[in-house]
Amino acid sequence: KEAKLWGGRFEESVTDAVERFTESISYDKALYKQDILGSKAHASMLAKQGLITIPDRDSIHQGLSEIERRIENGEFEWRTDREDVHMNIEAALTDLIGEPAKKLHTARSRNDQVLTDFRLWCRDAIDAVGAKIKHLQVSLVKLAMENEGVIVPGYTHLQRAQPVLLQHLLLAFVEQLERDAGRLLDCRVRLNFCPLGACALAGTGLPIDRFMTSAALDFTAPMKNSIDAVSDRDFVLEFLSANAITAIHLSRLGEEWVLWASEEFGFLTPSDKVSTGSSIMPQKKNPDPMELVRGKSARIVGDLVTLLTLCKGLPLAYNRDLQEDKEPVFDSVKTILGMLEVSAEFAQNITFNRERIQKSLPAGHLDATTLADYLVKKASSMAIPFRTSHDIVGRAVAVCVSNSCQLQDLSLDELRSIHPVFDKDVYEFLGVENSVKKFSSYGSTGSACVASQLGDWVTKLEIT
Ligand code: ARG
Repeated sequence: KEAKLWGGRFEESVTDAVERFTESISYDKALYKQDILGSKAHASMLAKQGLITIPDRDSIHQGLSEIERRIENGEFEWRTDREDVHMNIEAALTDLIGEPAKKLHTARSRNDQVLTDFRLWCRDAIDAVGAKIKHLQVSLVKLAMENEGVIVPGYTHLQRAQPVLLQHLLLAFVEQLERDAGRLLDCRVRLNFCPLGACALAGTGLPIDRFMTSAALDFTAPMKNSIDAVSDRDFVLEFLSANAITAIHLSRLGEEWVLWASEEFGFLTPSDKVSTGSSIMPQKKNPDPMELVRGKSARIVGDLVTLLTLCKGLPLAYNRDLQEDKEPVFDSVKTILGMLEVSAEFAQNITFNRERIQKSLPAGHLDATTLADYLVKKASSMAIPFRTSHDIVGRAVAVCVSNSCQLQDLSLDELRSIHPVFDKDVYEFLGVENSVKKFSSYGSTGSACVASQLGDWVTKLEIT
């Protein structure tokens, strides 16, 4: 057996079970690029500070580049007995270039090294998730652009509430996604500080330049407290929280579309490209991708809870428990990227069934609230307070319910028998088309407000 890099004080080697149990190479090899980047920056700094020679630095750089090439060509042998990505690369570098490699770990511990790698990895992942969020936003805005003027029932409690423009509804999801992207950016700002040089926990007496490595790796600044630097995982918690919130938004979008694709709603039809069938029922065409978007949000919430639970109760500073921080993050990122991608594809492959939607609009007295507003406006001289107008319209609705008709079917006499303030202009407020037009204040569903929202998104997302 090869001696461990840390093997000096040991007389016996670890058992196979312990080796298998403690390894992380099977998954943390995903950090190889960041590990090599960090090591190169560290070697450059050591050379500038006179801690290693220039030829040592150059041979470390060349060796690391060669290792990166081998990894990318599948020629690199990842060894479980070398534990993790850091020791695999360092030991391979020693195999490759000999003595100079043994100087690379000067003024560095795996504790600050792993966090440097992980912060760099998360930074890239945040950018990738952000780009996919934008792509979904663009798909939703385009879908809205294709559906100008379509009125749909808006729901509360899943009961018919008020008529809204379909564009308005789609743009609601775009707004949510914008805040999701914003949370990622906030997290990125706080994450972007460099732990390298914190060493095991106490820093070092060697004359290193942490500002140099921090700048070389595009961090804002070195982390100020070496103990904090190797202990902190709140950047991960923040990232996973942001992903979890995004996942919940996507899950709600998934639920909406699954519901709308049902026979009972029939408001949308996904194309075959985004549907799957049943192994037994020949007629079936299911919206599985959006069901899985809904389903996979569970994993992402689970990943966050795993990390929260992992960190709870850990004393400062580094504890080996923290090695368990990586898989949930990798899982969360892979899952959210897939969810965002598939949601965008689904958005590009659905048709709203305008006729069916149109036919459904008369049900549910969607214009009742508009009628209540009519009374408030109409009667400002007669001073009908909203609470009273609510009651008047409620009585009108009750008449409709017992006659199985809509508010607009009531005659002026019938309306006046409920309250004398009704006038013939009331019919300009009844029916969903009229009703939607009345929503004109900022942020409402009226066409002018929605057109201006849409215009803002087209500009912001640079849609051409
Ligand atoms: N593989 C370890 C991790 O991911 C690296 C740090 C190990 N440090 C230690 N002292 N054992 O956390």
